[in-house]
Amino acid sequence: MRKNIIVSLAVAALLALAVSAMAAPKVPADGPVKTPAGATLTQAVCGFSHGGGHKEYTDCKVCHHTWDGKADIKTCSSADCHADMKEKKGGKSFYAAFHAPQSKHSCLGCHKEVKKAGKAKAPTACTQCHPKKAG
Ligand code: HEC
Ligand code: HEC
Ligand code: HEC
Repeated sequence: MRKNIIVSLAVAALLALAVSAMAAPKVPADGPVKTPAGATLTQAVCGFSHGGGHKEYTDCKVCHHTWDGKADIKTCSSADCHADMKEKKGGKSFYAAFHAPQSKHSCLGCHKEVKKAGKAKAPTACTQCHPKKAG
C-alpha cells in the first residue's frame, strides 16, 4: 500500500516535469536587444543570443528575473521594468539593466563575475557589445 503511494507520487512528479518542459516558452532568434519606443541611442545597438555561453542557464529567471514561469516573457525595457533612459542607476534605469556592476541579471554584472571564474569569452569592453558602425 505504502509502496503504491510512493510509486504513484513518483509518476505524478515525472508527469508534472514533462508537462512543464512542454509548456516552456521558446527562446527567440538572435537579434538586437529592444530599446524603448522613441529612445535616442548614443551607441550602436547591442545584439543578444540565447545560444553560445548563455545556453548553460536553463533557468530562464537568471535573466528574466520577474517572470512568474507562466505568463509571456517580457522585454527588458517594458514600461513597468527598465524603461528610464535618463537615469544611469536604479531598478527603472535602462542603462543599469545591462551594465549594473553588482547585478547578476545585468550583462556586465554577470560577465564580470564569470570572467573571474575563468570564462574569458564573456565580453566586458564597450566596443565588444557596441561595435563601431562600419564605414
Ligand atoms: C556585455 C555587453 C555590454 C557591454 C560590455 C557594454 N554594454 Fe552598453 N548596452 C548593452 C545592452 C544590451 C544595451 C541595451 C541595448 C542597446 O541599447 O544597445 C546597452 C545600452 C547602452 C546605453 C544606452 C543606449 C544608448 O545607446 O544610448 C549606453 C549609453 C551604453 N550601453 C554604453 C556603454 C558603455 C559606455 C560601455 C562601456 C563602459 C558599455 N555600454 C558596455 C550591453 C553592453
Ligand atoms: C543570459 C540571459 C538570458 C537567459 C538565461 C534567458 N534569456 Fe531570454 N532574453 C534575454 C535578453 C537579453 C532578451 C532581449 C530582451 C529585450 O529585447 O528587451 C531576451 C528575450 C527573450 C524573449 C523575447 C521577449 C520579447 O518579447 O522581447 C523571450 C520569449 C525569451 N527571452 C525567452 C527565454 C526563455 C524561455 C529562456 C529560458 C529557456 C530565456 N529566455 C533565458 C536574456 C536571457
Ligand atoms: C547570468 C550571466 C550572464 C548574463 C546576465 C549575460 N551573460 Fe553573456 N555570457 C555569459 C557567459 C557564462 C558567457 C560565456 C563565457 C565563456 O564561455 O567564456 C557569455 C558570453 C557572452 C558573449 C560571447 C559569445 C558567447 O555567447 O559565448 C556575448 C556576446 C554575450 N555574452 C552578450 C551578453 C549580453 C549582451 C547580455 C545582456 C543582454 C549578456 N551577455 C548577459 C553569462 C551571462
